[in-house]
Formats: sequence, structure tokens, C-alpha cells
Amino acid sequence: MKNTILGAACLLLFASAAHAATATSGSFGALADGSKIESVTLANDKGMSARIITLGATLQAVIVPDKNGRREDVTLGYDKAQDYLTRPNYFGVSVGRYANRIGKARFSLDGKTYALAANDGPNSLHGGPKGFDKRIWTIENTASGPEARVTLSYVSPDGEEGFPGQLRATVTYTLNEQNELRIDYGATTSRPTVVNLTNHAYFNLSGNAARDVMGHLVTLKAERFTPVDPTLIPTGERRPVAGTPFDFRKPTAIGARIRDARNAQIRIGRGYDHNFIVDGKSGDMRTAAIVEDPVSGRVMEVRATAPGIQFYTGNFMDGTYFGKNNRAYRQGDALCLEPGTFPDAPNRADFPSARLDPGKAYINAMIFAFRNR
Ligand code: GLA
Repeated sequence: MKNTILGAACLLLFASAAHAATATSGSFGALADGSKIESVTLANDKGMSARIITLGATLQAVIVPDKNGRREDVTLGYDKAQDYLTRPNYFGVSVGRYANRIGKARFSLDGKTYALAANDGPNSLHGGPKGFDKRIWTIENTASGPEARVTLSYVSPDGEEGFPGQLRATVTYTLNEQNELRIDYGATTSRPTVVNLTNHAYFNLSGNAARDVMGHLVTLKAERFTPVDPTLIPTGERRPVAGTPFDFRKPTAIGARIRDARNAQIRIGRGYDHNFIVDGKSGDMRTAAIVEDPVSGRVMEVRATAPGIQFYTGNFMDGTYFGKNNRAYRQGDALCLEPGTFPDAPNRADFPSARLDPGKAYINAMIFAFRNR
């Protein structure tokens, strides 16, 4: 008897030690139409956690300790699910079927032209008016253990938002004990199509968006970026960053050059809203960016397999977005680092291809790794 109890206690101890990171399911309320939104919170033993909700497979919160162990949210977002539809700003959402812009809201594939809805001036933005961010995804499975994990899926019907092929999209969020949050996007298609899935988290390392991000130091592992026309569509040029406000090869405060009106690209973007070409080989998981908040001591390293990364400084936030912790979000209150292929790739044979064929697996993997300095 005694032995059995001891054995059971040992097993329990062993089990809890092995199950350091947990995935916990919960509710995130309902939309105005009554649809229920679920949540899964991944948490580790280091005080880091991430909440994912089924609406848009959205990363709704990321709690990370600062240098003094204070646990605060480092992402922007909403407290209520309906706000993600009523006041959409892509906070933490999974973007698809095509993240970023497609010029003139159309593209050709195998000789056929596909017309999309123009929802950003003349262009298609983030998969159209009802992209993947506004769909309710299905939780496929969750796992606790040395790593906590949740996988969600969404099946986009053939022709949805103008895109050809039924696309089966998945996303897996994984949190480990090294404070690394990994996001793996995957997709397969029934017909040739274009795809670019990414996460649109808005980061502010100060914690609970206490301050803007102008003092955050950013490093971008990019020798070149893709300049854009006045509608934010790449011109096709791959311009060296050297000698421009786009040179983040050494850690530089976001605010240092963001108001440099001599630079036409800064003027067009109202700051930074550009695709940087990540150094090294796409497909390899490599460091794309490092962000550091000198005040809180939080550091975030972004590793990615994608060829490009969109660096956006929240230029469209105008103080009318009321988010978590009763914060009104204003321009420059966060930065986005969205790994993916280049904007408008479906219209540019010279850009890394966005094409996906039946029988092939699309993959886009990224890691947001947190530490303190
Ligand atoms: C992306 C775009 C921006 C803007 C935001 C969403 O990052 O590049 O221009 O549309 O999404 O507001």
C-alpha cells in the first residue's frame, strides 16, 4: 500500500516536472451574432504566456517578464472578440490568404486573371475585406509537456475572396521553456493558387503599451529593402539600406530617423511600412530582427524562414483604437514584424514565388524569442 502511494506520488512529481508548459482552454466570449469564440492559453514555468483565440487564429496576448520579473503584455489587441471585427486593425491576427498587398487587386495565374476586392485604395490588402483574420478557426488539438502547443485550422473554399483553389490552412503556436513562441503556418490547395500567411502581432516591449516604441532599438538583418509606390506597392527595386533611414544593420532607435522627410520612402510610408529582404537563405530559420526596450530590459529576437519581413510602425493608428488595459493606441505605439514573401509577389515574376500547387505543402515558420538584457 505504502509503496503504491509512494509510487503514485513519484509518478505525479515526474509528470508535473515533465509537463512544465501547459495549454489551457477557455472562452473568449461571443461575437455580436452569437458565435462563440474559444481561447487557448499557453504558459511556461518562466512566467511567459500567450493567449490564442479562434477568431482569426489571433495571438490576443503575450505576457513576458521584464528585467525585474514584472509580467506584462507586450502586444496590442482587444479585450472583446467583437472589437476585432468592428475596429479591425489586424492586431495579432493570422493574415491570409495573401498577407500584405496585391497591386490593383488582381493577378494572373496560368494565363487566367483573378479579380479581388480592392480594400486598400486600388489594391487588395491582407486577403480582402473578409480575410482569414475575420474567420473563426477550428482548434485541432492542444498539448502540454516540455512545450505547450495549439493547432488551429481554417478551410477556405475555392473562390473565396476571389482566390482560386480550396485552401486548407493550419497554424501551430508553440511555447517552450526558453521563452520562445514559435508560429508555424501551413497550407495545401486543391488548385494552383497564391498564398502568404503570417502573423500580424503589434509589439510594444514597454509592457501594457505604457510608452510608444520610438525608443525601442531595432536591428534588421537586411542589406536591402523593397521601396514602394505611393499606394505601398513595391516598385520592383531592391534598394541597399546603406546610407538611408532604412539601415537597421546596427541597433537603432525607431524614432531616430522616422521623421526624416528628406527620404521619399519615409514620406510615402508615414514612417516605416516596408518589406525588408532578410539576409541569408529563405527556407532556413535565421535571425531576421532584434528589438530591445532599454527601459524594461525586454529583448525580442525574431527568427524566420521567409524571404522578407514587413516592418510597420503602426502609422495608421490614430488614437481611435481602444485596446486592452484601457489604452488608446496612437501612431508609433507598436511595431509589427511580419515574416512572409514580398508584397505583390503574385504580379512579379522576379520576386520569391507565392504560388502553391496541389500536392505541395506551403510552410512559413517564425520564432519570437524573448529574453532580458
Ligand atoms: C500592414 C500594412 C500596413 C497596414 C497594416 C494594417 O502591416 O503594411 O500598411 O495596412 O498592415 O493596418
